[in-house]
Amino acid sequence: MTDHILIERSENAPHIQIIRFNRPEKKNAITRGMYLTMTDALKAAEDAPDIRVHVFLGTEGCFSAGNDLADFLAFAMGGSMGREVIDFLIALASARKPVVSGVDGLAIGIGTTIHLHCDLTIASDRSLFKTPFVDLALVPEAASSLLAPRVMGHQRAFALLALGEGFTAAEAKEAGLIWKVTAPDALEAETLSLAAKLAAKPPEALRIARNLMRGSPEEVLDRIQREAEHFAAQLKSAEARAAFEAFMKR
Ligand code: COA
Repeated sequence: MTDHILIERSENAPHIQIIRFNRPEKKNAITRGMYLTMTDALKAAEDAPDIRVHVFLGTEGCFSAGNDLADFLAFAMGGSMGREVIDFLIALASARKPVVSGVDGLAIGIGTTIHLHCDLTIASDRSLFKTPFVDLALVPEAASSLLAPRVMGHQRAFALLALGEGFTAAEAKEAGLIWKVTAPDALEAETLSLAAKLAAKPPEALRIARNLMRGSPEEVLDRIQREAEHFAAQLKSAEARAAFEAFMKR
């Protein structure tokens, strides 16, 4: 166990569980162990009657640089992929309680696509959303190939997921990927206040409203699985291995 993921409860808002990326020395890149901790926390909070809202936060200036590229390289070199990433995505896409996220700074790869599963996201004005999947010889994940075109239309989704263009917080808001932009020093307080507002609503009415808006997760779960098959095959490709090695050797 490490403290790379912190599971927090706010004293002022006891009905909120915060999952915080806390590996700033590696830009909060997410390892297999971190996915496992997050999955356990999500499931525990779903089952806990006193938790009403999930919140994702990062550290100052960094939400997450995405999947740990050393883990990708290990798999590309013949190691096992494990179930950690897919189990986390399934738990996230199956959540029945609202999910809120607050982004300050870098949000790369799954650091961006995670917000497609969130109900409300606030980002600081210095945030950057980017998914360099194709540049790494990979394909979109987390059902982003399904959800991003729905949220922002094909062209913007293509610019994000295939071209690998970075989106500023203002652009992400305009595209509908996030809800609000704020100043960096207000980010955490605004995110938690938003989560507290949701936690104060009648939980059953909120659950039904969310469910009506999101619909059944089956299609999303199916897309997560389909993407994962392509992702795993691409991870083994020579072009992907070259991209990971280039990053490691910088
Ligand atoms: N996996 C593993 N380590 C990562 C990482 C990742 N996704 N992102 C950053 N790190 C590590 C760096 O290797 C570096 O480690 P070191 O200090 O031991 O050398 C440390 O975090 C700081 O990163 P650095 O690149 O020096 O910071 P930066 O501010 O110059 O750049 C990024 C930040 C995020 C733009 C750059 O690190 C990057 O492009 N990371 C890869 C992002 C990515 O492709 N993610 C996968 C998407 S599918």
